[in-house]
Amino acid sequence: MRTIEWRGDHAVLLDQTRLPHEVVTIDVRDVDTMIDAIERLAVRGAPAIGVAGAFGVAIAALRAEREGLPVTFVRAEAKRIAAARPTAVNLSWAVRRVLGRLHAGAAAVISEAVAISEEDVRANRALAHRGADLLEQLTHASPMRVHTHCNTGALACVEWGTGLGIVRVLHERGKLRSVTADETRPLLQGSRLTAFELTELGIDHQIVVDSAGPTVIARGLADVVVVGADRIAANGDVANKIGTYPLALAAARAGVPLVVAAPESTLDPATASGGDIEIEVRDEDEVLTLGGVATAPRGARALNLAFDVTPADLVTAIVTDRRVIRPAAGERP
Ligand code: MRU
Repeated sequence: MRTIEWRGDHAVLLDQTRLPHEVVTIDVRDVDTMIDAIERLAVRGAPAIGVAGAFGVAIAALRAEREGLPVTFVRAEAKRIAAARPTAVNLSWAVRRVLGRLHAGAAAVISEAVAISEEDVRANRALAHRGADLLEQLTHASPMRVHTHCNTGALACVEWGTGLGIVRVLHERGKLRSVTADETRPLLQGSRLTAFELTELGIDHQIVVDSAGPTVIARGLADVVVVGADRIAANGDVANKIGTYPLALAAARAGVPLVVAAPESTLDPATASGGDIEIEVRDEDEVLTLGGVATAPRGARALNLAFDVTPADLVTAIVTDRRVIRPAAGERP
């Protein structure tokens, strides 16, 4: 199935908190359930939470129509949904886009939300092929070793994936040797989700702890680093999962290309630079515990920054569904 889909009058999503051990879906029929799913990362990844946000507004619009509630009710619900996670711009972008159809009724909001999800599928396929072409130009290693961070696969989107979508195309072309995936503390999107997808696809891979990533690159064990993005500022700075920036520094030092894969909907021309991007700070317990067991003394505090910003000059290329931008060479989105 798809990571998230619309079924008549409600949304269904794969509960990513249960992976890799259980494949369980959640029926989402009210806004509170959708916000909860977004906040606790049952649905996650910038493109997927954009679609989740759009479906959330559709659910609110349906309820308003059924119960004779005013449009102000739907707008207030949309505001709550958009605030569920602040860093990935796809969420507020998608919510705004479907709200633009509210005057035409719930059916119009639903069809706009479904259109966003279908566009995501098409955008990922397009960017994956463009990205694979680019990687073949950027590195002469064939087959190549890709280093990645977090999860940028089908699970982060409606299907197929962005960064991992490129990996899939390379694999189909016989141009992929192996993937190294950072485990991605504290919620382990790399080891739980990326390794799950790579296993399903039969792609050779290994998991490393996050702090090993830069050393893997420095020791010549990666031909290219491919990551996703949650928001790309007008100057080309890239917000992505915490731990991306150290990989970018290591890649620049080692002369290894760093490629960011993201649909156009992740570009945010309204945000001038990375310093203007709000970085989500999550619950301390995600850092202080592992699988529900405390890993720090009682009373210890944590700073749980969910994302970091990689400056444009460290980004070799941004691949979107429409183009390739080369920030390190001075190009701006
Ligand atoms: O906190 P998450 O798991 O939602 O973070 C996801 C990422 O940082 C991804 O790299 C990004 O959203 C791009 S997904 C195609």
